[in-house]
Amino acid sequence: MKAIFTRNDISENGEFYSYIYDILECKDVLELANHAHHIGTSRFQHSLNVSYYNYRLCKFLHLNARSAARAGLLHDLFFYDRKTHEKIQNRHPAEHANIALYNASMRFAITELEGDMILNHMWPLTPHLPRHAETYVITVVDKLCASAELSAYFMRKLAKIKVHKQLTANAVPAVRERCE
Ligand SMILES: [Fe+2]
Ligand SMILES: [Fe+2]
Repeated sequence: MKAIFTRNDISENGEFYSYIYDILECKDVLELANHAHHIGTSRFQHSLNVSYYNYRLCKFLHLNARSAARAGLLHDLFFYDRKTHEKIQNRHPAEHANIALYNASMRFAITELEGDMILNHMWPLTPHLPRHAETYVITVVDKLCASAELSAYFMRKLAKIKVHKQLTANAVPAVRERCE
């Protein structure tokens, strides 16, 4: 398990791992790996990315890094497909945060700070102002991670197209030689 754009397994980061290892033992959280999220990533990978960078940034800012790691991993704990869930389609930004907080609270002891981070991570698309500095951090980290995941996806696509073009360019003279 690695966060995007990092080299080491998260278990090698003692402090970060110690904050979230119990959440990683929950099969419902691991189930998020089977759900596509944005484009080209899973909901689990996105949550892990947000958890890691939220932890790093909050630690750097001397905020609550433990809650940052835990809320990051739980902020998108929902199991529906936003494109096919008719009842929720138009209310997804606010609704999935509500559902994630409910799901997280049913499985873990969630502090008031973590609850605020999960509930308002979509701000300003949700009506309530965040109550904590950490919540403002997660709103930014969530959007940055989504952009990074999208960029990584398009970089992978471009690399594939490049390789394909090179292979066809090399193949054409070889075929021509054989025909002559
Ligand atoms: Fe979200
Ligand atoms: Fe998210």
